[in-house]
Amino acid sequence: MFEKRYAQRLKHQKLTDLYRNPPEIARKEGPFIHMEGRTRLNFASNDYLGLGSDPAVRKMVAENFEAMGPSASSSRLVSGNFQMMREAEQTFAAYFGFEDALFFPSGFQANLALISTLFGKGDHIYFDKHIHASSVKGLALSGAAFSGYKHNAMNHLEKRLKSGGQGPRAVITEGLFSMDGDFPDIDSLSALKKTYGFLCVVDEAHSYGVCGKGGRGVGKTVADVGVGTLGKAFGLFGAIVLLPKLFRDYLINFSAPLIYSTALPEAHAKSAVDILSVIESSDDKREYLQGLSRSLKMKLVGAGFTVNGDAHILSVNIGDEKKTMELARNLYHDDILVFPARFPTVPLGQAILRISLTALHQYDHIQRLVDTLIIRHHP
Ligand SMILES: Cc1ncc(COP(=O)(O)O)c(C=O)c1O
Repeated sequence: MFEKRYAQRLKHQKLTDLYRNPPEIARKEGPFIHMEGRTRLNFASNDYLGLGSDPAVRKMVAENFEAMGPSASSSRLVSGNFQMMREAEQTFAAYFGFEDALFFPSGFQANLALISTLFGKGDHIYFDKHIHASSVKGLALSGAAFSGYKHNAMNHLEKRLKSGGQGPRAVITEGLFSMDGDFPDIDSLSALKKTYGFLCVVDEAHSYGVCGKGGRGVGKTVADVGVGTLGKAFGLFGAIVLLPKLFRDYLINFSAPLIYSTALPEAHAKSAVDILSVIESSDDKREYLQGLSRSLKMKLVGAGFTVNGDAHILSVNIGDEKKTMELARNLYHDDILVFPARFPTVPLGQAILRISLTALHQYDHIQRLVDTLIIRHHP
């Protein structure tokens, strides 16, 4: 019975060009990725500052794990609440300008835990329709009423807020949208917050480390809670939630995904702090990345592509799923890896090529990408 349903759904995915079957990766090396017997230029990595590939960072992390061991061996509430972790959280809170912080094993878990626990029956949550799946899953679990507003459309959010109920309200957005590569309008969001009063959660998975002064992200002026993954610009794994002390206490007491899951090891906390000081002194990388992105966007727009994105994530609009897959396959054939984002990652019929740039890319790499895209898109 189950088998029949699974087989039918998979068949449907194949027929509609939505089937996923990721190829295996032999290894990654700087801006390159070795897979299926060939070395390819990698435009699908979130190691934005190249720290995950940096030998000094790797050594630092390896030494921490060697010294402290690879596992917390229990959940935070049993015997996994290490002093080192607490110090690391306080260091992160101070750096990003929040009252307190809490580590999670992944960004997905952080959003799920945070949103499903902080919100509940009687609350109304407004969310940008392009927020990450982990936040949406958190909403679905929360029991709160929720309504989406059009991507980055502050007038639509205001309409929703005006017609909404009287209970506690919150807004969820991202610091840099993971697929579109654009920023939210923080000033307008702040103005709406003043007028209507809501709690604001900003998921800065793609902006912490890379955007804002010292990589402090873009949402601090409006965010009550900031979420950052350490698996992207930090070149590590795990996640950090920046929040008021009361919220932290509440999550530790009521958040099942935190309570019933093995904590991150203390070696992780030490590594996160070590990497934070590298992040602080990475202005040169952040500036380089901005220049690279501006140049790539100009070249792509000049070649006639419709491109979104204002930072290290650029999305080339293709629309049709089949066409997008074909284009990505052709680029892959020419040893360039670009992620074709399709439904449900993006809305149906609005497939894109998601290009992520890292400080490891060079200008001749982006020229190669543009030249190949032009040939493959208009063969
Ligand atoms: C916006 C956003 N939030 C959260 C996550 C989840 O983070 P992690 O990969 O650490 O689970 C991602 C990762 O893809 C993301 O893009």
